[in-house]
Amino acid sequence: MAKDILILPGDGIGAEVMAPAVAVMTAAAAAVGIELNVSEGLVGGIAIDETGSPLPTGTLERAAAADAVLLGGVGGPRWDDLPTDQRPEKGLLGLRQGLGLFANLRPALLFGPLAAASSLKPELVAGLDILIIRELTGGIYFGEPRGVEVRDNERVGFNTLVYSEHEIERIARVAFEMAQKRGGRLCSVDKANVLEVTQLWREVVTGLAGEYPDVELSHMYVDNAAMQLVRAPKQFDVIVTGNMFGDILSDCAAMLTGSLGMLPSASLASSGVGLYEPVHGTAPDIAGRDLANPLATILSVAMMYRYSLDQPGAADAIENAVGAVLAAGYRTADIRGDAADEQVVGTGRMGELVLEHLSV
Ligand code: IPM
Ligand code: MG
Repeated sequence: MAKDILILPGDGIGAEVMAPAVAVMTAAAAAVGIELNVSEGLVGGIAIDETGSPLPTGTLERAAAADAVLLGGVGGPRWDDLPTDQRPEKGLLGLRQGLGLFANLRPALLFGPLAAASSLKPELVAGLDILIIRELTGGIYFGEPRGVEVRDNERVGFNTLVYSEHEIERIARVAFEMAQKRGGRLCSVDKANVLEVTQLWREVVTGLAGEYPDVELSHMYVDNAAMQLVRAPKQFDVIVTGNMFGDILSDCAAMLTGSLGMLPSASLASSGVGLYEPVHGTAPDIAGRDLANPLATILSVAMMYRYSLDQPGAADAIENAVGAVLAAGYRTADIRGDAADEQVVGTGRMGELVLEHLSV
């Protein structure tokens, strides 16, 4: 039976990184003998320009009916002056919420040949393999009340950081289960020394630990976690945290691997469609110049094969192809080092190289 894939290139470099990723996705499908029904839709700034809404109803409906969604990125300076609820980002947040994608998996994995591209010393990051699990449909991103209003003759801005027990429990269970399949260590990141909501977070996570005796659970305050990530990142296996802390820590972890241009992500619901996107943004400064690194999006396709299409072989093959291309010395500008055998290539060529190295 054919799998329905909805492609949402979005803005900035989104369309550029999407083309090679779709080519890799299609080639892998042919190799493992599955049929894909690929169609394209609108989200973000381009959707605002063409339909007036960052998330047209048709897009949400088609996404909900698909087996998987592959998204490029949303946002750009052109739409920066719009009110929060009309911005391109609202399209992405609406998809996450509308599809119930509460579990965001952001692996920070260092490909050996890129150790020199990391901003940390190679020995600190060699062999790095962390999985950040970010709660994606709750917390301060969605909490009510929110807004800006006038109180006592001045404007006051406010947002609400709220988590209910069931939201904490379901993301924690995903994290415990992932830790069981990996190194068996889970670090829950909170700010329980200050925020009541994260005291509850810590309590609920701790309460589940007895059900996962094979997982070693620890807790860390978010400020310390940020510090530890750049001090000794290899101490972590799986990190679980709320929406905003996860947003921040995952950018930080991404840089450890050489470039934000390397990090894929998967956003999963309890059942149904999964959404796959690079962690990086739309990089308006380099858009349209064949400079963007397509590897994060290509690696997101690998995650799609693993988590939505039940084809772990195709996922491994794509990840191996990326590894082989890097080992052969090919780099996009963001991951170039100073080794003599490196060859800097553009977005399109990098995509072709991954295809050439793909053996499923
Ligand atoms: C991310 C991005 C998004 C977020 C933006 C584009 C809304 O930074 O996926 O990390 O804050 O979640
Ligand atoms: Mg982010």
